[in-house]
Amino acid sequence: MPNISGPLVRWFARVGRDLPWRRSRDPYGVWLSEIMLQQTQVERVKDYYTRFLATFPDVHTLAAAREERVLKLWEGLGYYRRARQLHAAAKRIVADHGGVFPRTAAELRSLPGIGRYTAGAIASIAFDAPEPIVEANSRRVLARVAGHDRPLDGPRGEAAIWEIAAAVVPRRAAGRFNQALMDLGALVCTPTRPLCTACPLATRCVAWRTRRTDAIPVPASRRETKRVRETALVIRHGDHVLVERRKPGEWWEGLWDFPRDAAAARGRKLGAVRYTVTHHAIECIVRERAAARRARPTKDRRWVTAAGLATLAMTAPGRRIAALLKPG
Ligand code: ADE
Repeated sequence: MPNISGPLVRWFARVGRDLPWRRSRDPYGVWLSEIMLQQTQVERVKDYYTRFLATFPDVHTLAAAREERVLKLWEGLGYYRRARQLHAAAKRIVADHGGVFPRTAAELRSLPGIGRYTAGAIASIAFDAPEPIVEANSRRVLARVAGHDRPLDGPRGEAAIWEIAAAVVPRRAAGRFNQALMDLGALVCTPTRPLCTACPLATRCVAWRTRRTDAIPVPASRRETKRVRETALVIRHGDHVLVERRKPGEWWEGLWDFPRDAAAARGRKLGAVRYTVTHHAIECIVRERAAARRARPTKDRRWVTAAGLATLAMTAPGRRIAALLKPG
C-alpha cells in the first residue's frame, strides 16, 4: 500500500468537517458519537448527540439513568439495541472499571455493543492508539486506493479490507488519520461521481490511475425485500388506548407500539402505514375497536391517553399510527 497519511492529514486540516463530537477527545463523547453514527447519517446524529450529552454528560449519569429515559432520547434514531447496549456498557464501566474508560481496543471490545469498529474508533480517536477502522466511507476510499476489486461483503471481503486498513494506519495520530479517511469518503471519494480532481490521494490511487473508480468498490450482492402485511389494533377504552412493549428478539425491542394481529379483520379501518425494516416492506393496516373492559396493565402493557403516548419511547411505525388517532 502507498503511504497516504501525509497528504490525507494535510487535506483534513484544510477541509475536515467541524462536527460536535470533534470538539473534545473525551472517550465518553467519542464512544457515544460512534455508537450513534453506526447505520446513521452524520446530519441526523448531530442533534441527538448534543441532546444526549446535555442530559447524560458522563458515564456516571448514564449508568444511573432509567432505561426508559435513555430510549426516549434515542427515539427516531433507530436500531434501539444500540441504546440498550450503550446503557449496559455504561453500567459495566462504572461497576467494573471505577467509571474510567478502558484504553485498549481489546478491553473496549469486551463491553456490550463495542465491536471491532467501535473499539478501534475509540482507541484511536480518544487515546491515539494505532488502531485501524473500517466504516462505510473509509471502506470505499481504501478499496479504491488499493485497487481492491473483490466484493467487500461477507467475512472474506471484510477481512481483506481490514487488512488494508491495518496496513495504512500510521503509528502516530491514528485518530486524526482515521477521521480524515472518513471525511475523504464522505466529501470527495463519494459512491458515484467521486471528485478525483480534488482528491489529495489521486496520484496514489490505483482505481484512479486505472480509470476504475466506478467499478471499485465492487457492489455487494443484493438481498430481495420481502412483502409483509399486518394489522395494528387501536384498542380504546374511554380516552385511553392500549400499547405494548416490543419483546426481545422483535424489531424495536423494548419500545412501545400498538398491538399487532395477523388475522384481525374486525374493527373500523383508520388507515394504513407503510414502512421498511431490514429487507421487509411492510404494509400495516390500522384498525380501531372499543374494548369491553380494560385489561390489567403490566410492565409491558399499558393504557395511555394521547398525552401519554407523546411521552413514551415508541417505534417508528407506532409513532405514525399514533398520528392517525383522533382524540377521544
Ligand atoms: N462516521 C463514523 N464515525 C465518524 C466520525 N467520527 N466522524 C464522521 N463520520 C463518522
